[in-house]
Amino acid sequence: MLTPNTLIAATDRAYTPAMADLGTSRAVHYHTRRTRFVDDCLRWAVARGVAQVVVVGAGFDSRAYRCRALLARTRVFEVDTPATQSYKRRRAEAVLGAPPDNVVYVPADLSVQSLDVLVHWGYDRSAPTFFLSEGLTMYLEESSVRRLLQFVGDSAPGSAIAFDYWLASRIADAESHDAETVRRFAMVREWREPVMFGLPDGGDEEFLAECRLALVRRTRVGTPAAARRSRRGHGGALALAIRRT
Ligand SMILES: C[S@@+](CC[C@H](N)C(=O)[O-])C[C@H]1O[C@@H](n2cnc3c(N)ncnc32)[C@H](O)[C@@H]1O
Repeated sequence: MLTPNTLIAATDRAYTPAMADLGTSRAVHYHTRRTRFVDDCLRWAVARGVAQVVVVGAGFDSRAYRCRALLARTRVFEVDTPATQSYKRRRAEAVLGAPPDNVVYVPADLSVQSLDVLVHWGYDRSAPTFFLSEGLTMYLEESSVRRLLQFVGDSAPGSAIAFDYWLASRIADAESHDAETVRRFAMVREWREPVMFGLPDGGDEEFLAECRLALVRRTRVGTPAAARRSRRGHGGALALAIRRT
């Protein structure tokens, strides 16, 4: 039997009763903070003059539509697996209309491919670029996360990435998880997108440095309620890192 998906069920419920469910309220708080963090970083990057934006593991990200004015002078590349991307394109066109002209869809499986594939789609290696990646690094193997971050580290001066990550302890130390987290891990396993990788506890800056990136901003994640319920409390972060000079 599939793990009940309270998040999908919540979309049919009124806000207050839906938010009484721990899994739903955690997800809403987390995604709200993550969206705000990445939007702030995107504005920061555009103000610094980036020419390209790459949305890595884009899923149903709608920034190309929602931030159309902000992104008017940048090219926006959306990278995702071919199947998810093709479904997203169909749904986005049905609901939001044709994508803005500056959007380029790049099908790629980052577990076996590098972001080098972008070059075939018009990506300019010499242009400062802002990468954003939400909800991806925890579902990739370490080698794929390194390859992704190293690509950013090797990008043109002025390039940066905003992304979220979990810590290794949150993933490895399963018995310390509360029931809600265990349920969520089981759910994504059933979706064939199991949780795989977390940056080393206390070693995240070093990990980034090995990828030639420097941390600019880091915000620990976890709601106060989640922190009270979980022994570990905060299990990851939202981060902004720039290419080292
Ligand atoms: C949890 S979803 C997050 C989607 C979106 N960034 C968001 O925040 O709503 C993870 C996304 O990463 C994509 N993804 C997972 N593994 C991938 C891979 N190996 N290569 C490319 N994309 C991948 C999935 O298809 C999915 O769209």
